[in-house]
Amino acid sequence: MLNVGVIGASGYTGVELMRILWGHPEMRVELTTANQYVGEPVSRLYPSLAGFYQGAYETFDLGVIIERCDIVFSCLPHGESLKVVPELVDSGMKVVDLSADFRLKDAGEYQSWYGVVHTATELLEKAAYGLPEINREAVAAAGMTANPGCFPTGALIGMFPAAAAGLVDGTVIVDSKSGVSGAGRKLTLATHFPQTADSIEPYGVMGHRHLPEIRSQFRRLVGDAGADILFIPHLVPMNRGILSTIYIPLTEGHDYAKIRGIYEQAYEGEPFIHLLPSGSYPVTKAVQGSNNCHVGIAMPGCGKTLVVITAIDNLVKGASGEAVQNMNLMCGLPEEMGLAGPALFP
Ligand SMILES: NC(=O)c1ccc[n+]([C@@H]2O[C@H](COP(=O)([O-])OP(=O)(O)OC[C@H]3O[C@@H](n4cnc5c(N)ncnc54)[C@H](OP(=O)(O)O)[C@@H]3O)[C@@H](O)[C@H]2O)c1
Repeated sequence: MLNVGVIGASGYTGVELMRILWGHPEMRVELTTANQYVGEPVSRLYPSLAGFYQGAYETFDLGVIIERCDIVFSCLPHGESLKVVPELVDSGMKVVDLSADFRLKDAGEYQSWYGVVHTATELLEKAAYGLPEINREAVAAAGMTANPGCFPTGALIGMFPAAAAGLVDGTVIVDSKSGVSGAGRKLTLATHFPQTADSIEPYGVMGHRHLPEIRSQFRRLVGDAGADILFIPHLVPMNRGILSTIYIPLTEGHDYAKIRGIYEQAYEGEPFIHLLPSGSYPVTKAVQGSNNCHVGIAMPGCGKTLVVITAIDNLVKGASGEAVQNMNLMCGLPEEMGLAGPALFP
């Protein structure tokens, strides 16, 4: 049994990780840290965990973590993970970082999008990008994994078969809708109930922080020439879930049957990716609480554009479930361990 430390366990991804790990046969949560909630019993902050976790949040202490934990998940905001992950990795522990601090390989690009000077550039090269569906071998060999952003997970799963097969001709448009838990537990005006209920709001239109992440991984598949990404996220009045509609301009000479064959082949054997039958399209409720990504494909109109729709739960496949999937691979455990199963809603 591996003893797990969850750093930043009082946030939404942290508590989701604890929910998932409660059912994991080879990992148990040994230690949880918080910032403002140190000393608070976990189940007082999250009644859903009453009866499952008796402990209270602790302060971050590297020595204590090294002594009590075998592996660590960091659920801190960007800029904060950067301060603690390098020393955890140096201690020899396997670490999955859920923040954006190690997702972009270019420290200058990270600084320009996140406004933080990168102080652990040597680790940027070593960190595996934790989307197993496109990077499984690197994750399995890594000591540290940068868990993808929630939007990039749904977007990249939707576009990688087309990109890898050389079908993309021009700018891919990613139109995504996210539930409000994507912004974390902290209170802000933009995520306040009266602001979000009964309304849909685009944001980050001129450039969202997940754009360079999607673009850099996309370019690993298609190269630098020609193809680009336009990404527009929207906040929608639901708690969990991301629906992404991806418009892919196609090179000449492909019909639906051929492209469907390419997608079927690309996802064959993927435990969490489910290509829906022709004419069926993903809905967020059908993946809620699961690590599954549903994918629907279509070629409406003149057939020059492939439309791919993906649905994930931002807190599971878009964060904590994917983090466990990565840690399973890093620890040599079966990738699906503790994660298999359908969504909560029928
Ligand atoms: N929410 C999502 O859907 C999602 C998806 C993918 C990735 N992520 C990424 O995962 C990370 C965690 O997200 P989240 O949604 O769980 O955030 P959250 O709900 O805001 O939780 C953040 C956690 O970090 C702690 N924290 C905040 N400021 C801190 C500081 N200055 N020093 C030390 N600890 C601090 C908080 O402690 P206190 O509660 O005690 O203040 C809390 O435990 C972020 O980097 C986020 O971008 C989130």
